[in-house]
Amino acid sequence: MSGAPTISHTRARARHAELAEIIRAHDYAYYVLARPTIADREYDRLYEELVALERSFPDLATPDSPSQRVGGAPLTQFATVRHLVPMLSLDNTYSTEDVCEFVNRVQKLLPETRLEWVVEPKVDGVAVSLRYEKGMFAVGATRGDGVIGDDITANLKTIRGVPLRIPAVQSQSSVAHDLSREPRKVKVISSPSVLEVRGEVYLTRSGFERLNSERAEAGEEPFANPRNAAAGSLKQLDPRVVAGRPLDIVLYGVARVEEGRAPESQTELLDWLQELGFKVSNPRWTCKTLDELFAAIAALDGARRDFAFETDGAVIKLNSFTQRERCGATAKAPRWAMAYKYAAEQAQTRLRAISIQVGRTGALTPVAELEPVFLAGSTISRATLHNEEELRRKDIRVGDAVTIEKAGEVIPAVVGVLREKRTGSETPFDFPRACPECSTKVSRESIVGEVGVVWRCPNPDCPARVRGRIEHWCSRGAMDIEGGGEVLAAQLVKSGLVRDVADLYGLKVEEVAALERMGEKSARNFLDGLATSKQRDLWRLIFGLGILHVGSGVAKALARRHATLDEVAAATRDQLTETEDVGPVIAESVFAWFNDPASRGLIERLRGAGLNFRSSLYAPSAAKGAFSGKTFVLTGTLPHMTREEATAQIEAHGGRVASSVSKKTDFVLAGSDPGSKLDKARRLGVAIIDEAEFLRLARL
Ligand code: IVH
Repeated sequence: MSGAPTISHTRARARHAELAEIIRAHDYAYYVLARPTIADREYDRLYEELVALERSFPDLATPDSPSQRVGGAPLTQFATVRHLVPMLSLDNTYSTEDVCEFVNRVQKLLPETRLEWVVEPKVDGVAVSLRYEKGMFAVGATRGDGVIGDDITANLKTIRGVPLRIPAVQSQSSVAHDLSREPRKVKVISSPSVLEVRGEVYLTRSGFERLNSERAEAGEEPFANPRNAAAGSLKQLDPRVVAGRPLDIVLYGVARVEEGRAPESQTELLDWLQELGFKVSNPRWTCKTLDELFAAIAALDGARRDFAFETDGAVIKLNSFTQRERCGATAKAPRWAMAYKYAAEQAQTRLRAISIQVGRTGALTPVAELEPVFLAGSTISRATLHNEEELRRKDIRVGDAVTIEKAGEVIPAVVGVLREKRTGSETPFDFPRACPECSTKVSRESIVGEVGVVWRCPNPDCPARVRGRIEHWCSRGAMDIEGGGEVLAAQLVKSGLVRDVADLYGLKVEEVAALERMGEKSARNFLDGLATSKQRDLWRLIFGLGILHVGSGVAKALARRHATLDEVAAATRDQLTETEDVGPVIAESVFAWFNDPASRGLIERLRGAGLNFRSSLYAPSAAKGAFSGKTFVLTGTLPHMTREEATAQIEAHGGRVASSVSKKTDFVLAGSDPGSKLDKARRLGVAIIDEAEFLRLARL
């Protein structure tokens, strides 16, 4: 192995433990308390040091190490998990009378008892359950049907607000001051042998915006709202994809506490969970009377637009757990809680027309052209109609009176048609089967792991796509060429001067100056910008090429791993998959792009124009052992390798071999005549691979 260890195992272990503790403390300060105690760069440095130690001493990469948040191979499907206690839902209402009735009903169930209520924001995300065994995060699951959910442990581990072990942290006060490398005395909070807690995974508004703009950059369909984005993310089979999604979590419930002091009320629970290292429901109100309850609901409504997450309601729950038990539950929902939902802001207007936008990747998006209407702080004249399916499902016709809705970060959307207002003159929209720009027959494509179906114009020379590509190439996030906006891109394409990005570098001042609304001066500025752009870093060029699924993040990752554009172009699918953030779908897209003769031609012309193909981000040291931190178990006879040879290969790539299968096993390498280890692996949902797959992973 390269990079021979320079310190002893004992010292490495001590330093590793120290680093892990410091990183956990900073994670807690950042994710739970929202009070960062360290600069990002310093944090990254500590993290790098930890990972470097684990490279030299792979046994230090225990499952609770901060490095183990993203690990494991993509799954083919999720295993299932039975919840220790069913995950119920909540009764919902939009009416204040229902709230009064609910409170009276509970008071009748508990006569002569003083009731105390807790009001919390209803976080608009995805319900999850987290189980800790002996203090270690063991299983994380979706709600599923309430009794059995999907095992999404690997995905949940990528969320840094999910402690990998509890108690996870030093006490609050020592975190706040601790920027030294010396961990202070740790306040130990004993952890129960089994703890199952419940909460909501969500995307912050800013995380949602960031994710959607990255998706737009990469030519992918945006998510309609943060909840869909969170749900879609948790359903991904590849944890590396999940790690790139800005997910967060908040806890608000407990299902089981074994061998530990269990809290007796909601307020106690939330404080306790926070001490254990979880982020909890916040803000919250405790109320004794109906008046106080409605005041809290109103206060929450007043404050919720400033929250980092979307809130569509207030959850009202009894504070005392004994009182809750006395109330019980129906098959669907507890009797001691209720959700009061705030009405979304809606408006009515008329759908004047439906237009079709053709994006850079050829995707056709239907857009509602509306009679302008004022809603939630702004005038709205356009709203997305997402895709053809959505149009059909809602039976939206041109001329219809429609209801539009805008809640928080949600893109304004047409939520329904006022059928009673139809006059008969409305016309159903025929989704075009040919591109409105170039008349090429469009093709249907469903995207793995995404909702809906996209029609795409497959013609790479479609003027709309060419315009989009030129504009994207010049954009600030890509080659950053001053003046190369939407208008100029359209003119350059329309005049026939430019058919692809390489043509930009052959433009002459007179040609550009002759375009409408362009003078000599702006033409010169644009050409100067083009000249400067030849020296831009490789990642900008890769991003600028506009390859499907390649946003700036992926472009940077590719440029960290490859020294030149030619190296990226020569990479196999498997080599591409080894890049951080690159799963099989992205790898296929990149591979297909670089192996298309038209792309090869474009690259040669860019080379001829003198563009820089070298990456300043290239960091070969960032390459990791293919099996770093991974545990293998061998079973059966392999076709070409002995056990010893397989073991040597695993260890040479930073992995280790264990003798029996457990939840900590990452892979079972199985040959012919496997033993009971294989059955156990199947039961535990451990990845099972054969020799061919193993060799592929090891890149041999
Ligand atoms: S308590 C027995 N508290 O809303 C269920 N739920 O519509 C007790 N939710 O499935 C749930 N924020 O996913 C509770 N502060 C909060 C919540 C919350 C969001 C979700 C939860 C639940 C759904 C019911």
